[in-house]
Parts: sequence; structure tokens; C-alpha cells
Amino acid sequence: MINNERERMVVRGLKDVAAAETRISYVDPMGHLYYLGYDIDDLVGNVTYPEVAFLLVHKRFPNRSELDTFCDTLISEMELPEEVLTCIRSTPKTCHPMDVLRTEVSRLGQFDPERNDRSDEANIRRATRLIAQVPTIVAAIHRSRQGVPLFRPRKDFNFAENFLYMFEGSHPNDKETEVLHRVMILHADHGFNASTFAARVTASTNSDMYSAVTTAIGTLKGPLHGGASEKVMEMLDDIGLEEEVEEYIQGLLDDRKKIMGFGHRVYKVEDPRAKHLRDIVENLCHRERTMDLYNKCLKIEGIVHERKNIYPNLDFYAAVAMDALGVPKEFFTPFFCSSRISGWAAHVIEQYEDAVLLRPSSNYVGEFGRYFVPIENR
Ligand code: COA
Repeated sequence: MINNERERMVVRGLKDVAAAETRISYVDPMGHLYYLGYDIDDLVGNVTYPEVAFLLVHKRFPNRSELDTFCDTLISEMELPEEVLTCIRSTPKTCHPMDVLRTEVSRLGQFDPERNDRSDEANIRRATRLIAQVPTIVAAIHRSRQGVPLFRPRKDFNFAENFLYMFEGSHPNDKETEVLHRVMILHADHGFNASTFAARVTASTNSDMYSAVTTAIGTLKGPLHGGASEKVMEMLDDIGLEEEVEEYIQGLLDDRKKIMGFGHRVYKVEDPRAKHLRDIVENLCHRERTMDLYNKCLKIEGIVHERKNIYPNLDFYAAVAMDALGVPKEFFTPFFCSSRISGWAAHVIEQYEDAVLLRPSSNYVGEFGRYFVPIENR
């Protein structure tokens, strides 16, 4: 007789289960988000994305000269190995960009210049390289799908400028660069979300940072997580006219379908990132398309709140902000990855420091004692 008496309570979806301690970010259910103790409300508009990336990985803000050095390093590390560029060029254009990104980030691990060095210092350098290279991979995927030349990073452009320049092939204006900094700050980290947890599980086996980040990318891709913003834009495009919003959303709710970009596992009130993204989009409403999308969004927000008492999350207005930057919807999640990489890398380093295998158990609910029949008798 097999002893299955040690039944533990199953916490479906691991809801409210604390799997570890972290000092990196805190998701306050009452509508605040802190990076290393700093409220994001105090960061957005006051710091640049590289400052936040430095904060996450080094667990403190840089001084001016440290930031200058970090930014110079980021720009020079934006270059990709030629072999990775060759693979990106040969990828079928029908692949989703997230599939290409997942594979090419994994491939980067083969070209890590200090592959066998697992020291803390090497991990910080590796994190910095990944923070620099993920946006370049995203830009290269976009350019190669368009069949246009890939651009190399320029030392006279800042990080966000370079990202947009390499992605679109033209120099962004100051407003676009500022919007991207803000969007990237808002996407940089978010507690033990699914992709971060997945990265930490991989890191907890003492596997390398590239493996952990590859795991995270695959997890972020899903529409219940980072893939939601692409679905939001599909919905907005599908709706057509603003006057059709009500019927469309009521129809989805009547069919008990989820409205993409709404609801959250932790927040009981509005996601604190949503208000910043709503403001960003409102400021971009001089563009006709953005204004049209924004008006639809406001209507959807009202209906969903009234019927379900839930609020927009990060992905709802992020979709419109990225659309205004000229990013095609299938690249929304790759853009998300391009900033969440800083949070993932910080969590991977913290997991190495914690040095514990993340390995839960399960309650077996299958059968016992089944009679085995050899294949020739089945
Ligand atoms: N649209 C409509 N109803 C929603 C909803 C949404 N986007 N999100 C949650 N709800 C409802 C559920 O139907 C459920 O209602 P019920 O109790 O009447 O059945 C209730 O709210 C709880 O939802 P649940 O899915 O159990 O919460 P969760 O914590 O497991 O899921 C999400 C959180 C984010 C996965 C979920 O809100 C969702 O699927 N949102 C859409 C995808 C998305 O935007 N993801 C990005 C997250 S940042």
C-alpha cells in the first residue's frame, strides 16, 4: 500500500503564496509599486530607464559619473554577435517575434565572453549585457522582417534613442524618446509575477542567466501575462468605431470572456502603472489614431468597471502608448521584454544569493495499484 496520507493544502494558482523574500520590488495591493523602496510615482518623469536598470541590478541608484559609465557600457554592449544577426535574418518572417526573441536570447548564451565565470561581478556584467542586447535583438527582428538594413547603435544617442533608432531606422524626437523612457521604467519590474518566478525557478537550480531569461521570455509571451497588450490592440482594432464599444464589450462580458488588459492578481484597486500610461497616452492625443484609441479605451474602462468592478492593468494603455510610438502590435511583448529584462536579471542574481532550490510539491490525485499489461497484450 502506498502512503498518500500526507496531503497538503493545494493553493490553486499559488495565489497569495510567498515563495521567497525579495528586496527588489513590492507590489502593494492598495495601488503602489516600489522599486528598491522607491515609489514609481516618484521615479516616472524624474529618472531615465538606465537609472532604473542600474537601481534594480545594483540595488542602489548610481551617482552622475557611475550613470555616465553605465550608459556608455550599455551603448557599447548593444552590439550583437554576427552569428546571432545571421540567425535573425534567416528566421521565417511568419514566426511571431517573441519566438525569435526567445531563441536568440538563448543563443546569446553561446557567445557569452565569460561563460565559465559565475562570480557576482560577472553576473552583474552579464545582466548589463542582456539589458543592452535584448532591445537590439528586438530591433533586428523588426528590421529583418521588413527586409531593410539593420542599424548599429550610435554613441551619440542615448539608450532609448538608440532603441527606437535601430527599430524604426530614423531618429526619434525628444518626446518619443521621453515616452519610451517612461514606458520602459513602468515595465521594468513587478514583484513575483509569473515570468519573474519562472526565471527564479530556473536560476534556483544554479542554471545560467541566459537559461533563466529564456524561461522568462516564454512565460511572458502568454496572453494572461505580457501577451495581453497585443490582444488589447487586436480588440481595439476589432471594435471599429467608438460607438460600437458598448455592444462589443457587453457581448464579451455576456459570453463570460475576459477583457484583455483588465484585472490583476494582486491589485485590489487600479494598477498604479495604468494611471501613468493613461497620462502618457493622453499627452499623445494630438495624433488622430491615438485620440481615437484613447476615446475607445476610456469607454471600455467605464463599462468594465461598472459591470465587473475591475480596473485596467499595465497592458491596457501600454498598448496604445506603443502604438503611438509606431510599434506594430506583434512587437508590444518584445518591447515589454526589452525593459523587464532588467527586473529578471536582478531577480536571477537575488535568487543565486538566496541559494535555495525552488521545488514545490503536489498532491497526487491519480490511481494506485493498477495492473500492468505488457505492450503485446494491450
Ligand atoms: N475580464 C473580465 N473579467 C475578469 C477579468 C477580465 N480581464 N479579470 C478578472 N475577471 C473576473 C473573473 O472572471 C473572475 O470573476 P468571477 O469571480 O465572477 O468568476 C474574477 O474577476 C477573478 O478573476 P481571476 O481570473 O480568477 O483572477 P486571477 O487573479 O486568477 O487572474 C488575470 C488575473 C490578470 C490573469 C486576469 O485578470 C486576466 O485574465 N486578465 C486579462 C489578461 C491580462 O490583462 N493580463 C495582464 C495582466 S498584467
